[in-house]
Amino acid sequence: MSITWKSLAILGVSVGLTGLWIGNAPADDEAVFPMPRGKALVNECGSCHTAYAPGLLPARSWRKMLSELDNHFGEDVSVQEPVRLALLKDHEDMAADGAFADMRMRRIAGSVPANAAPQRITDTAFFKFMHDEVPKSFWRRKAIGTPANCIACHPRANAGHYGEREVRIPK
Ligand code: HEC
Ligand code: HEC
Repeated sequence: MSITWKSLAILGVSVGLTGLWIGNAPADDEAVFPMPRGKALVNECGSCHTAYAPGLLPARSWRKMLSELDNHFGEDVSVQEPVRLALLKDHEDMAADGAFADMRMRRIAGSVPANAAPQRITDTAFFKFMHDEVPKSFWRRKAIGTPANCIACHPRANAGHYGEREVRIPK
């Protein structure tokens, strides 16, 4: 496996806290984020773009987004109230600062200023830091188009998998 200085920076946090280093691929390196419970909920938010894992933004970002579905980046993506409430619950629980957050997610949460509720994952310091080695011209490639198209390079993004070893950048 390839260990970059970035994965080391992330692992450094957990190593520092546990005082443990396990020689073979640590589970921490897999970057798996929990996804909303059930295919139907995942599909509600994954029909137009990657089904973004709730752990990529803090709960306050999702609360704001899920209270403004009638104007979602200029689109009306409103859903029935019971569906909205189910989405809200899972996005809160699985948020970067939610009940299920692991070390990586808490680090994402910690990188967002307390008074901010970013609506774009791609605006967060975490996203920029993780992708600063991706040349600008790559984002514009036909098969990618925008940095928000996670699934173009992270093939299992819709299942919350972002592990470095799975990254494939389309030509
Ligand atoms: C009808 C299509 C559609 C549906 C359904 C939809 N979105 Fe979006 N979403 C968009 C568009 C359009 C954008 C803005 C794309 C752009 O300008 O880059 C966007 C952007 C986003 C972004 C910002 C991505 C980034 O980092 O730039 C997030 C997060 C997001 N949507 C979450 C959701 C969630 C959560 C749901 C379900 C409640 C949802 N979307 C449902 C169309 C949709
Ligand atoms: C152009 C391809 C590309 C796109 C599109 C892309 N990524 Fe990445 N991503 C990468 C690469 C390459 C890395 C590895 C960076 C490194 O380790 O130096 C990475 C790393 C990551 C990591 C860290 C994985 C780990 O092991 O800690 C996360 C999380 C991540 N990306 C999330 C996203 C999200 C969320 C999106 C969409 C909003 C996205 N990426 C879009 C190429 C991409």
